[in-house]
Amino acid sequence: MENKWYPLVENNRWYPKYHVAAPIGWINDPNGFCTYKGQYHLFYQYHPYSAQWGPMHWGHVISKDLIHWKHLPIALTPTEPYEREGCFSGSAIEKDGKLYLIYTGNAPEGQKQCLAVSDDGIKFEKLEDNPIIEPPESDEVHAIDFRDPKVWEHDGKYYAVIGSKTPDGANGQVLLYESDDLKNWKFINIVARAKANEGNMWECPNFCEVDGQDVLIVSPMGINPVGKKFWNSVNSGYMIGKLSYEDGVYTHRDFKMIDYGSDFYAPQITQLADGRCIMIGWMAMWYADMPEQKDGWAGLMTVPRELSIKNGRVYTVPIKELKSLRNGNVTHKDLKITEPTKLDGIKGLTGELLVDVDLKQSNNFAIEVRVGKDEETSLTYDKATATFAIDRENSGAGPKEKREVELMPSDVLKIRIYLDRSSLEVFLNDGEAAMSMRIYPAETSEDIVFVPLDGDLTLKKVTLYKLSQGIVQ
Ligand code: FRU
Repeated sequence: MENKWYPLVENNRWYPKYHVAAPIGWINDPNGFCTYKGQYHLFYQYHPYSAQWGPMHWGHVISKDLIHWKHLPIALTPTEPYEREGCFSGSAIEKDGKLYLIYTGNAPEGQKQCLAVSDDGIKFEKLEDNPIIEPPESDEVHAIDFRDPKVWEHDGKYYAVIGSKTPDGANGQVLLYESDDLKNWKFINIVARAKANEGNMWECPNFCEVDGQDVLIVSPMGINPVGKKFWNSVNSGYMIGKLSYEDGVYTHRDFKMIDYGSDFYAPQITQLADGRCIMIGWMAMWYADMPEQKDGWAGLMTVPRELSIKNGRVYTVPIKELKSLRNGNVTHKDLKITEPTKLDGIKGLTGELLVDVDLKQSNNFAIEVRVGKDEETSLTYDKATATFAIDRENSGAGPKEKREVELMPSDVLKIRIYLDRSSLEVFLNDGEAAMSMRIYPAETSEDIVFVPLDGDLTLKKVTLYKLSQGIVQ
């Protein structure tokens, strides 16, 4: 598979140029995102035999810079009785020169955590003693739904958070475990529990110290929409707090969304040697229409994003390494736009578009991307409510609806957009909000149009960077 990945897809009209996607077949959650022997590894939930979800394998890519990824052979295949319905999500960690994958063995009798180990980061052996963690015998913990371990090291010990729910299936929760050797684990505490409308199962917990605070990320199922929030079938979010490692008590603030788009779920974080916490999410959505399935593949990863804390919230920005993909640019400065306008050299199916809008001298406006004969994807700003929206009602094939986010008032609106054939990632005001969406336009739809909706639109600066290929063979 290694040198033949690209032609495996039957049609590349929506296949990404610089995001990680499977060579062919279905992917969902990122797994095992880690550094091992100086290289970055990323695994993912993978069904190689069709573009639909099926018994889960772990696909595998590797990178020296988090940007140029190379496909490696499948790392985990469900072969054992305890994982006969799939090797579900999990994480990875280096110990004594070996790479350990901790993942969920999914079987009808229940979900249990398992280990696989490798000397070279490519070929993994499952432990004879698997499964190594069974659900705790507690009348507060569901006996079957128990999955997605995320491991990290703290002061010479290993800790893991595991997704769970209450025995009645009403509320999601996260369990904390501790170990000296990655093989023997002790249940410490339920570190966080869903309040009303915070979900009935918490999947894929992640834990990371960001700017001196402890951030817990969870991916809850079963949240109902409230105002502009939680419109997806499942929704990922975070809490900011402090974990006391002595007794496993996590004091935290409210659950907040981490991405306001229609296609973002099950993110995984890794902490780099330089201290940065980097997150990658699955850029697709459970139960959504995925037109790329007709072409033999489904789902892709977001660009890696760096987390920080500002104004009591988690900010996410594309990692600085992404600048190395830039390959030529066109810039326009100080423009007063009074009617729908295309700018010279500003168009494309892929690329990074930076737009700084002078809000003091602008009213409501739209930026339309992937504009073609009968279609466009519309990004709008409503000044009175400081609401930014992405509308894919008229984007082409695929799901049709709108997602919105309310921003803090500012004099300049900074918009950074990553376009990649069937995806759109928008970062607003240096990470205050992110929105990830899939779109399925025609390959001929490549225009970008700036549209004043109500008075003038004043652009301080517009830059489009061409981006080079991110996946290497
Ligand atoms: C989240 C999830 C995980 C599970 C995996 C199965 O998207 O449901 O909880 O481990 O996907 O593919």
